[in-house]
Amino acid sequence: MKVAVLPGDGIGKEVVPVAADALKAVMPDAEYVTVDVGYERFLREGIPMAEEDFRLIRECDCILFGAITTPPKLSYRSIILTLRSELDLYANIRPFRSCAVSPFKVDMVIYRENSEDLYCGMEDVAEDRVLSTRKITRRASERIAQAACGRPGIKKLTIVHKANVLRSCELFRDVCTGVARERGVPYEEMLVDATAYNLVRNPARFDTIVTTNLFGDILSDEAAALIGGLGLSPSANVGDRYALFEPVHGSAPDIAGKGIANPLAAVLSAKMLLDWAGKPGPAEKLEKAVHMTIEDGVLTPDLGGKYGTSDVRASLMRHLERL
Ligand code: NAI
Ligand code: MG
Repeated sequence: MKVAVLPGDGIGKEVVPVAADALKAVMPDAEYVTVDVGYERFLREGIPMAEEDFRLIRECDCILFGAITTPPKLSYRSIILTLRSELDLYANIRPFRSCAVSPFKVDMVIYRENSEDLYCGMEDVAEDRVLSTRKITRRASERIAQAACGRPGIKKLTIVHKANVLRSCELFRDVCTGVARERGVPYEEMLVDATAYNLVRNPARFDTIVTTNLFGDILSDEAAALIGGLGLSPSANVGDRYALFEPVHGSAPDIAGKGIANPLAAVLSAKMLLDWAGKPGPAEKLEKAVHMTIEDGVLTPDLGGKYGTSDVRASLMRHLERL
């Protein structure tokens, strides 16, 4: 097992080392390769990622990723979007589970289509108007619907779209309902605006959401707020060959360098990596250490605590030694 570790920019450089240490503690026999990519590298060297880095990444089985700052004026294609498309990571799986400090009771997973929609890079830019193309295909919709319906223990699938306005959403909806019916998964449909509303009104009604790329991006930050914030929300970008694990949050320039970033979303992403790698024992250990740290009250300011990233790291490592 070979893991590429890509801390990226900003708080990615603070939280990923904690997640990597936790991962090494429970999976010491794997090989870890750190690759420096991102906007800070671009500022230093004029490129965000070299061909050689990409080769190194392809030699690994999976990636532990932090976050990358978007360059001003989008001067080069996003690294995370490049990795998702080059490695064909078509399913973005985002679990939201309440813990001891969560304001709402939530236990759900968002399956976000990860390869197309408005993120496909087809933009026609003129000075006074820009056309961004929304691409939705049967194949990509089918793959994400199959992934969502295959969620172990799925109770109900909520298919989220805007088919009352967009023909592209009509296709997405029809493919998803077809897959759910075929697989015998109970399902409902919901417009994306109603979903944003219902997530706040009654989050407990959701079990599994499947949706398109942009809607999934937005709804997952909303869902993160329900469980206590982005500092607690992990994700997996999964394809048939590779997988990439990253917190839902970005590089958080407002708190970068202050030593107060919450590393738990990154650690829970490492937990998802272990699940993907077929290592349920070590995965459970990481998750337990996270919950014990929360229950001890070793919390960063985003969760109302007064501790720093290194205190959370120390608490996690202490628990991992004993588990
Ligand atoms: P963000 O997710 O970085 O931050 C949003 C808010 O949440 C900020 O107030 C931040 O301080 C807080 N926050 C996020 N993670 C936290 C953590 N672990 N602990 C404590 N507080 C946390 O979103 P923002 O500010 O919109 O984006 C910053 C940069 O990151 C942008 O350049 C954006 O494009 C990029 N980005 C990159 C992503 C990726 O590489 N996958 C994903 C999202 C944003
Ligand atoms: Mg996002």
